[in-house]
Amino acid sequence: MTVAPQFQFRNGVLHAEDMPLTDLASQFGTPLYVYSRQALHDAWDAYRVASQGRDVLICYGMKANSNLAVLNEFKNLGSGFDIVSGGELARVLAIGGDASRVVFSGVGKQTWEMQAALKAGVKCFNVESEAELVRLAEVAQQMGVVAPVSLRVNPDVDAQTHPYISTGLKDNKFGIAIETALSVYQRAAALPSLNVVGVDCHIGSQITEVSPYLDALDKLIHLILTLDSHGITLKHLDLGGGIGIRYTNETLLSPSVLLSKVFQALDAHKLSHLQLVLEPGRSLVGNSGVLLTTVEYLKHSEAKNFAIVDAAMNDLLRPTLYGAWHDVEAVTPRNNTGTPPAYDIVGPICESGDWLARNRQLDLQQGDLLAIMSAGAYAFTMASQYNTRPRAAEVMVDGAQAQVVRPRESVQDLFITESVLK
Ligand code: LLP
Repeated sequence: MTVAPQFQFRNGVLHAEDMPLTDLASQFGTPLYVYSRQALHDAWDAYRVASQGRDVLICYGMKANSNLAVLNEFKNLGSGFDIVSGGELARVLAIGGDASRVVFSGVGKQTWEMQAALKAGVKCFNVESEAELVRLAEVAQQMGVVAPVSLRVNPDVDAQTHPYISTGLKDNKFGIAIETALSVYQRAAALPSLNVVGVDCHIGSQITEVSPYLDALDKLIHLILTLDSHGITLKHLDLGGGIGIRYTNETLLSPSVLLSKVFQALDAHKLSHLQLVLEPGRSLVGNSGVLLTTVEYLKHSEAKNFAIVDAAMNDLLRPTLYGAWHDVEAVTPRNNTGTPPAYDIVGPICESGDWLARNRQLDLQQGDLLAIMSAGAYAFTMASQYNTRPRAAEVMVDGAQAQVVRPRESVQDLFITESVLK
């Protein structure tokens, strides 16, 4: 058993759905990102079932994986999108996505991005500071339109996750401190080019407990009731993303557990008329992908064994950036008995931080194929071309079919637009 149901061993070979990963590697080469279409659908289904009978809009947090093929699946399933840049908006429009199901988050929205989002007609701007509010009002006024806004409040709760992906604490750069939210809402309500529609928070990522969400929700409900008593009525409540996935043996929070508690709290405060917006990223795609890589060399030193593979920190930054754990599976494991040596799985990049996994007991030989699991989220989207390494191809598997949804970059691609001084 692996962490991802659509990636299982059959006859001793790891498959993506009905496709042996060995076939994909020989057809498309490595490193290679492999996504399972069915896994995307199953992840979506967990949210669909949890939302049944209620007014819920799921806005896929597309920064987790913004390949057009992935976006298109979610669009067809009925998803909206949470964007954080003009670039992400362009991707949504490129697949014919409906801008009225798009929320625009992020602390540093630029004027051109506001203009593009207003022109497209997004559902709302999740405004993160008073300065941004003022700029948005000006931009909308100049365009002769009214901007729908929601304030992203910072509820000061600890999401109990890695500090780099915790976003709802007072000392994080995100959101408007909840204590000052009322006065900022009043300012927004007084500006004719703004239309106050909602409230928003996002407290962090890879969250495995329900309590941080409920603490944040409590504070948001209190704010909504206060606003109401000041004549500011909201239409939606956006709780952000953040639900964690299983990278190895985490106990998970499911969408249905979270949503049933949220509905309970809303009903108890007579707020069931509010639309609930969610912005899940990782939990919709994380376990829908693996990164395939080939062992180039084995290197045994006195202190350590290294498996040097053809994927690197430029393809999967999470281990070195967050100390994140990704399971590593041999695609065709050997049946040898006895304890295999422990390897650090490292890439070819000229940095000691270039590691993908540490101390993994694997029976390896040069040329072996490995699958780095749970690489559907924040893998390709955080990839770089460091060391002039072309970014790897992305393939989507559907049953026994596979389609390249982004080809491998060529070395030429990497510097085709550069020039030397005339
Ligand atoms: N909404 C907002 C405003 C966000 O900032 C994020 C993620 C999401 C939604 C989606 O959160 P999710 O459901 O994926 O947890 N690169 C890091 C994760 C950074 C998350 C940033 N914000 C990682 O690889 O763990």
